[in-house]
Amino acid sequence: MNKRPFLIDCDTGTDDAIALMAAVHCPLVDIKAITSVNGNVAEVYTSRNNLDLMDYLDQDIPVSRGAVRPLMGGALDTEGAPDTHGKTGLGGIKLPTSQRAFDPRVADQVIYETAVACKGELELLVIGPMTNVAIALCNHLDLAPLIKHIWFMGGAYQGGNVLPTAEFNIWADALAGHIVTQSGIPMTMVGLDVTLKAVMTEEDIADLRKAGTKAANLTADLLDFMVARRDRGGEDLVMHDALAFAAAVYPECLSCKDCYIDVECAGEYTLGHTFADVRGRTGKKPNASVALDIDVPKFRRWLVETISAGKTEK
Ligand code: BDR
Ligand code: CA
Repeated sequence: MNKRPFLIDCDTGTDDAIALMAAVHCPLVDIKAITSVNGNVAEVYTSRNNLDLMDYLDQDIPVSRGAVRPLMGGALDTEGAPDTHGKTGLGGIKLPTSQRAFDPRVADQVIYETAVACKGELELLVIGPMTNVAIALCNHLDLAPLIKHIWFMGGAYQGGNVLPTAEFNIWADALAGHIVTQSGIPMTMVGLDVTLKAVMTEEDIADLRKAGTKAANLTADLLDFMVARRDRGGEDLVMHDALAFAAAVYPECLSCKDCYIDVECAGEYTLGHTFADVRGRTGKKPNASVALDIDVPKFRRWLVETISAGKTEK
């Protein structure tokens, strides 16, 4: 079986780390590269987390550094979301520091060169602010047709988390979100409408502990951090980013609808809002598939099984 080539762009991040563990253990995909971006925490931490995590899981996947600032957006004035992910992004978990070097190329160059090498077959999983992908599209005008599909966690057709009408990844770099959604690349939006329902439980933590592999144990540790976070009034055990990966490899757990989407780059109250014309009122041609509903038990089972199946040593 030919594995599908993927590049993951992320701001790791507790739930990004869990998505990465599912992706590297999923038999359907071949992760060609990981690119890091400023988001949940500063880029210096997200890059380090990606490198340390790949080393910890014995994965020889190149990790590169990426954008330290957004092109435009809320994250300009913030330090990301340390309350949600801990100061350095992994909920206080300290992985052994990898001695491996970063890929010397910057993220946008890696995105472009990987797309060229994959000859039109590369799929992107984008689970942080879209800054790196937008820069790559601006620097390389021939890039868009080389990308087969973008699966992204971001936005919401109703509601938001940082603002009443904006989701964090898109709000954190609204201009990048606009550039990417208007690129013409086929894409699937997995937004808060579905991700807020993708909540793991204590039963899942027990199953992961039973599996006992390195990845399963680390996932259980990250979920334990989320239990404590939930119990002090913060976010639940929500798997925003792993659900975007599930959309790519296990579409049976979601239902989606084709519609036109764009990102609001101005507006006193609506900066970073993802406009999704779910009811087809604008007459504009659909440019994305938008996830509308999720089968939660199917998703939870898939996530636990995919991560537990990893051959990483106990
Ligand atoms: C998104 O922001 C981050 O907290 C998560 O990693 C996810 O990508 C949810 O709004
Ligand atoms: Ca993320």
